[in-house]
Amino acid sequence: WWKSVEPAPKDPILGVTEAFLADPSPEKVNVGVGAYRDDNGKPVVLECVREAEKRLAGSTFMEYLPMGGSAKMVDLTLKLAYGDNSEFIKDKRIAAVQTLSGTGACRLFADFQKRFSPGSQIYIPVPTWSNHHNIWKDAQVPQKTYHYYHPETKGLDFSALMDDVKNAPEGSFFLLHACAHNPTGVDPTEEQWREISQLFKAKKHFAFFDMAYQGFASGDPARDAKSIRIFLEDGHHIGISQSYAKNMGLYGQRVGCLSVLCEDPKQAVAVKSQLQQLARPMYSNPPLHGAQLVSTILEDPELKSLWLKEVKVMADRIIGMRTTLRESLEKLGSPLSWEHVTKQIGMFCYSGLTPEQVDRLTSEYHIYMTRNGRISMAGVTTGNVGYLANAIHEVTKS
Ligand code: LMR
Repeated sequence: WWKSVEPAPKDPILGVTEAFLADPSPEKVNVGVGAYRDDNGKPVVLECVREAEKRLAGSTFMEYLPMGGSAKMVDLTLKLAYGDNSEFIKDKRIAAVQTLSGTGACRLFADFQKRFSPGSQIYIPVPTWSNHHNIWKDAQVPQKTYHYYHPETKGLDFSALMDDVKNAPEGSFFLLHACAHNPTGVDPTEEQWREISQLFKAKKHFAFFDMAYQGFASGDPARDAKSIRIFLEDGHHIGISQSYAKNMGLYGQRVGCLSVLCEDPKQAVAVKSQLQQLARPMYSNPPLHGAQLVSTILEDPELKSLWLKEVKVMADRIIGMRTTLRESLEKLGSPLSWEHVTKQIGMFCYSGLTPEQVDRLTSEYHIYMTRNGRISMAGVTTGNVGYLANAIHEVTKS
């Protein structure tokens, strides 16, 4: 048995955490995985989550959720993406199920796409979250790419993006990051989103939004849903992956939502039943506790406003660290421009460091990050920012 099985390659993101954990150096710094840390470098459980835990403790059964998960959690989650007063929610036009966080939502959609649009492909931005490639590959949906990031400007390559959207065959599927693009921290402006939406309309493309970082771009989840709201205003039928890993800090609870906006309630019922049908042989039904935490927070106005405050605190700490990192590099006399560190948004800075420079940061300074030069700003603290800046300066100066 299994004689031909070779070890799988290390995951480009989670493999970094493994290497970090194995390093005994007291100086080590982990700016690899996108997981929020406080200014002491410690993981954070939000106060609203602690309060929800207290309220739930001992008060619930441990029964199975339905295949589509908690209907209450899903309803509350849809409001965050589609808007509190969304006509689509009222008209029951959205097929939605609870998923195993954002990855689970993307995977379920990819499987749905494969089953019900069998010849289709997915257009994925360059670069993107590395797992997007795995997800659509394992779902056996062929992948195409579209231009997104401009390495020289370290910003958006809008004209190349628009060309790719224009040149894609009519009715193509596109994966879009709703906000706080991972790994680049570069989002289209509102005006650019409007143009993208118009072109999608003309080309009859399908937009699938991955919204893993709602709240981390602007500090306000409602504002971060702007891209989606623009597409909705323009009458698109879209799909959305939502996750509470980052914005509620519920990483290990695996709680998220997949939604597909349909023509009418009848189609929504059919699509939902098929999503459930896909989920059943994979994992039967999603986990309970995280969904209960989310519902407890979002249905209580006080807990919800506490959550919104805490999202803003996380987003603001990251923005502050961007400024400090840039200023530290400038003070060290770095001849390079570090403007993009403060221009980019969300959890990540796409630093422009080469894989070789990243390797030096790891081997000489015990600084762990993905080889594409992505720095998780959530791991940068007052205590390590100087050390990080100095190391970046050393590996980039010659
Ligand atoms: C990341 O990009 O670091 C996160 O989304 C964590 C992950 O699962 O890759």
